[in-house]
Amino acid sequence: MDRWLAGPQGWRLRRAADPLIIDLGYGAAPTTAVELHTRLGRVRPDIDVVGIEIDPARVRSAKALERDGLSFRQGGFELPVDGRRPVMVRAFNVLRQYSEEEYGAHWDMVRSRLADGGIFVDGTCDEIGRRSTWVELNPDGPVSLSISVRFGAFELPSDVAERLPKALIHRNVPGEKVHALLQAMDTAWIQAAPQASYGNRQRWLAMCAALMAAGWPLLTGPARWRLGEITVAWDAVAPA
Ligand SMILES: C[S@@+](CC[C@H](N)C(=O)[O-])C[C@H]1O[C@@H](n2cnc3c(N)ncnc32)[C@H](O)[C@@H]1O
Repeated sequence: MDRWLAGPQGWRLRRAADPLIIDLGYGAAPTTAVELHTRLGRVRPDIDVVGIEIDPARVRSAKALERDGLSFRQGGFELPVDGRRPVMVRAFNVLRQYSEEEYGAHWDMVRSRLADGGIFVDGTCDEIGRRSTWVELNPDGPVSLSISVRFGAFELPSDVAERLPKALIHRNVPGEKVHALLQAMDTAWIQAAPQASYGNRQRWLAMCAALMAAGWPLLTGPARWRLGEITVAWDAVAPA
């Protein structure tokens, strides 16, 4: 998902008045924040990545890794960055710890803190990041759902269901749009089986093309599909 921030979302960073990026809830070790700093620094060298953690012990241990453009502080969804407005806030595997009743208020809080043109990414993945999903929000609300998988790490695309963000994970049931999407992906994946002789990448590309032909509002094209990624407009998956 760093690749997605640096790629299709990189323009936000390039044009930001204040290139402030937040890794919210970076965890026991600040690995994801350090990686984010390295990867997005290639897009814009003067970025300022701030890792924010609610757990003070995790902030203390991360301090040793501070450097120019990378710092750590204690806080939560209120984003304690002295009134600055971030252009990107990434919270991975954080909101899944909260209830379905709570996430909406946290979304609203973070959205209200974003810069113009800023985004909040609320995502989830498996332990080693091979099945991953995230919701992109802008200051007005949710924009899209992205699903990103490593080829070979799943049998059916719907295997990713257990890693959906909190807003959708309880909605993978008949009658809900995200369920219809995952079913459509599975069907298109199975129908694209002949492409498997050319590799799973070709099969995934064929699946995405079939979904687009069927009218699913895909927001990205083959350049992203070939990475094992697909992004669909939020309206197509929003909870009923
Ligand atoms: C499962 S870890 C995720 C770590 C990392 N983001 C990842 O995906 O590997 C969740 C982290 O979120 C932190 N956390 C939970 N609620 C938070 C909040 N409201 N503000 C900041 N951090 C929070 C927890 O302390 C924990 O370190």
